[in-house]
Amino acid sequence: MKKITAAITAVGKYLPEYVLTNEILEGMVDTTSDWILTRTGIQERRILKGEGKGSSYMAIRAGKDLIAKSNLDPQEIDLVIIATATPDMKAASTAAFVATEIGATNAFSFDLESACSSFLYGMSVAATYIESGKYKKVLLIGSDMNSSFIDYTDRKTCIIFGDGAGAVLFEPNNEGYGLIDEYLRTDGSGRDFLKVEAGGSLYPPTHETIDQKKHFVHQEGKTVFKYAVSNMADSAEKLLVRNNLVKDEIDWLVAHQANKRIIDATASRFDLDESKVMMNIQKYGNTTSATLPLLLNDYENQLKKGDKLIFAAFGGGFSWGAIYLTWAYNKN
Ligand code: UT7
Repeated sequence: MKKITAAITAVGKYLPEYVLTNEILEGMVDTTSDWILTRTGIQERRILKGEGKGSSYMAIRAGKDLIAKSNLDPQEIDLVIIATATPDMKAASTAAFVATEIGATNAFSFDLESACSSFLYGMSVAATYIESGKYKKVLLIGSDMNSSFIDYTDRKTCIIFGDGAGAVLFEPNNEGYGLIDEYLRTDGSGRDFLKVEAGGSLYPPTHETIDQKKHFVHQEGKTVFKYAVSNMADSAEKLLVRNNLVKDEIDWLVAHQANKRIIDATASRFDLDESKVMMNIQKYGNTTSATLPLLLNDYENQLKKGDKLIFAAFGGGFSWGAIYLTWAYNKN
């Protein structure tokens, strides 16, 4: 029997209006626009403003954008997965609210959290449901409101992160396009290097945890940087070897956007031309679960049926990995 492959058949996105530029950050912390640009590649990022808005606000809009662009009947969606490190609430799934708001009333839904690898892992889960033959339409949305846990007096973290959401639809494909292979890993010994320590079961909120700023992201940047570079490149390389792919056959590197120097280092392992490396970190910064789907949205017009894409991500946990996927449609 022919194996069912799971292909991405539509994309959508949402970005908040407010633009936080490097120049504005110069007035908030002891930094310079030039330092940020040189050390990270970021020029500006989007921030979600307004009372009562969380990750669901952006996820709903990214989902509706995909639905409108693809003429999808939301009632045909079987499953909605929200990849997020910043769910609306500790309890009550963000996905349940999003699914209802977008009209996916025949779907079940759940949140998937693995820091900056959430969307990559979500791709694996979504594809596996499709490949099993159990479901036909899985909507995967990556949405993160990083500004909700960033300390805007900490120059080491506030310059990197932004808010945003991106959506993709996975469907069965009968031409063999879609997710071909994956290499996913975690290493819990890395958890102290990138974390939001309080607010969970380990350290529930107290006056002390707030005074000690434990509800904000803490990152030991240099260590995370080192592991991100080696693990993203190693994972991608494993997929190339396993699938007998030579570097010239790769059409696109779709790498998590945390720091341009990490993306450049991953690309240079394969001697990839700059033109094959998707990049939007300059506009959005690190949007955690939204970086990969936002790249697909920004490059959708350039993607061609049959293109070979290598996805790679690294994040807190540590968690990381790579996915090899072939593109299933021409936009125009
Ligand atoms: O998405 C999840 C995964 N996250 C990542 O992959 C992030 C990985 N890490 C990074 O991207 C980088 O480590 C950072 C961008 C966070 C920091 O860049 P770095 O080149 O590693 O800087 P550093 O932390 O080693 O700091 C070097 C110097 C320090 O000064 P001293 O101690 O040498 O005097 C910092 O205090 O740069 C200073 N510094 C800054 N200076 C101006 C740190 N942040 C800033 C800043 N502006 N915003």
